[in-house]
Amino acid sequence: MAKLLAKTSKTFGEFLLIPGLTTKACRPEAVDLATPLVKFRKSESPALKLNIPFTSAIMQAVSDHHLAIALAQSGGLSFIYTSQSIANQAEMVRQVKKFKAGFVESDSNLLIDQTIADVLALKEKTGHTTMAVTDDGSAHGQLLGILGSRDYRPDKIDHQLKVGEVMTPREKLICGDEGLSLEEANDLIWQHKLNALPIVDKNNKLLSLVFRKDYDAHHEYQKELIDANKQLLVGAGINTHDYQERVPALLEAGADVLCLDSSDGYNEWQGEAIKLIKKDYPKAKVGAGNVVDGDGFRYLAEAGADFVKVGIGGGSICITREQKGIGRGQASAVIAVAKARDDYFRQTGIYIPICSDGGVVQDYHIALALAMGADWVMLGRYFARFDESPSAKIKINGNYVKEYWGEGSERARNWQRYSDHSQLASKSAFAEGVDAYVPYAGKLEDNLNIALAKIKSTMISCGATSIKEFQQRAKITEVSPTSLRENGAHDVITRDNQDLN
Ligand code: IMP
Repeated sequence: MAKLLAKTSKTFGEFLLIPGLTTKACRPEAVDLATPLVKFRKSESPALKLNIPFTSAIMQAVSDHHLAIALAQSGGLSFIYTSQSIANQAEMVRQVKKFKAGFVESDSNLLIDQTIADVLALKEKTGHTTMAVTDDGSAHGQLLGILGSRDYRPDKIDHQLKVGEVMTPREKLICGDEGLSLEEANDLIWQHKLNALPIVDKNNKLLSLVFRKDYDAHHEYQKELIDANKQLLVGAGINTHDYQERVPALLEAGADVLCLDSSDGYNEWQGEAIKLIKKDYPKAKVGAGNVVDGDGFRYLAEAGADFVKVGIGGGSICITREQKGIGRGQASAVIAVAKARDDYFRQTGIYIPICSDGGVVQDYHIALALAMGADWVMLGRYFARFDESPSAKIKINGNYVKEYWGEGSERARNWQRYSDHSQLASKSAFAEGVDAYVPYAGKLEDNLNIALAKIKSTMISCGATSIKEFQQRAKITEVSPTSLRENGAHDVITRDNQDLN
């Protein structure tokens, strides 16, 4: 007969934190949310840390280079999704590594013999009026000129005129040299009253554009997650099927950390993959998962994982539990794996961070995950709602929503994440995720700041100013279904939602 665990499987919503003594030193400015990303030995510090305990899910609808840039600027990290070609994924990693705030790749580019009719069509498509004219019509060709809105009047000009006759030619342009700082670029913009400053290398190849209008938008990101070269940090997902080709390409592109991504990571393919990657690339940082108990943790820890991801079946778009009867309430899983992590640390002196992946519905669930022992969280639904996520924003019944679909859905077709290697990886027999919408929520930074303020406030209530302290001091209680009713407003008619009507 199967072994029956004594404890019921529970999720975050079934717990609350009990305040501890808040000393006067516990102020929001004093709270440090830095947390280890990869394993380290006792008395050493981790090679990589996060400045805030947030990472974005390895999903098509969540983690592309745009979201990765925005999240790293705020102190967290994205793992670029792996359910795409190796070349595409590596290119996204490259985009993050070469990102410099304020320097944007030109997205509207022309050949010199195109017509004004082409210009107007391009403007309609991109919404941008500043266009680069290059020898090959690409964003990084030889710069021949710039065409801006002041160069022609759409209603008066002959639409058959050639770009070369209307543009400001290269010899009349003020350009910045490669390596220029944003401040120096802005000085040139103001000095010469420019709208845009092209940046070129010594062979006159176009590198990027700096826009006057962006000047105010670039404030200092104090928590920015950067490497020694001041480049943003970025992670990338990998799978156990094509890692031998994918890993070198991602490392070559500059990925700082990799993560084997599977709905169930307690298997020999992950164990073998970690060992082989570590053998061929001893410096590579590789996380693994997902697991939901101490046995799974220990298996991946002993294989050499740099961190372990926790969670099966709790994801908002996930139907694994329904389909396979596999999984565990996210809170129970984190508590069990955190205990195994601490035991392992006591026995070996090696601390392996754990990530709570999926199932965060309220911001306070993040605080609970940390208190229960997670070093950081991974979020899909949360980030899918923001401007920076790759999915489409659409209007349904008067409300804006964004598309959000699971990696195990028919739409993502990421069968590698779910395949047990017994069949061709091209198709799984059943889906483990759904295709859905989430309410649109605006800019990542604005939402993240609110969540961070809430987490800090919770920590302060528990008398903690660091995640370690929080884990040591937090007191957690289970809530009964009846007391759960009191979590939100109750027994009143709320005016916010106008439910008087
Ligand atoms: P969320 O933050 O609750 O939306 O959960 C995101 C997490 O769900 C991801 O990081 C994955 O671990 C997991 N996930 C992603 N796609 C699927 C799927 O199709 N089925 C099951 N789990 C998924």
